[in-house]
Amino acid sequence: MGLFTKDIKNMNDLFAHTLRDIYYAEKQITKALPDMVEKASDQQLKQGFQTHLRETENHVKRLEQVFQLAGLKAQGVDCPAIDGIIEEANEVAGEVEDKSVLDAALIAAAQAVEHYEMTRYGTLVAWAKQLGRSDCASLLQQNLDEEKAADSKLTSLAESNVNRKAA
Ligand SMILES: [Fe+2]
Ligand SMILES: [Fe+2]
Repeated sequence: MGLFTKDIKNMNDLFAHTLRDIYYAEKQITKALPDMVEKASDQQLKQGFQTHLRETENHVKRLEQVFQLAGLKAQGVDCPAIDGIIEEANEVAGEVEDKSVLDAALIAAAQAVEHYEMTRYGTLVAWAKQLGRSDCASLLQQNLDEEKAADSKLTSLAESNVNRKAA
């Protein structure tokens, strides 16, 4: 943000800013997920985090394609929201002693991340369409669909197995 001028002058600028926000967030998530793979005890959960790490690496690549299509430099902008979600997850995880309870805590934290991503992608898809960039919208929609699927998978894991073991 400029000190003396307002950097976001129109909808294209706002789209670019939000794209940079989720780009930064996805990169932070690729750094956080290996730790979650490490901490998870439930094998399906561990595997789920591992799979989503691969998907997340692909989200970064798709975003780079969107930047390119939009004629923008692929560049992140600090996103205090995702930093806060990850920081809180680490703090809570650090306080949990029991392995099964830790799995439940990891799922809750991961779902907070997925929901953050879903709001960003939902907004970006709508804006891309409005700005006449259906090419960008379809790439962003692919990321959104994978976030939604990851979120549903976490709900199933929690409700079918992890919560019962933790309780
Ligand atoms: Fe993602
Ligand atoms: Fe995700």
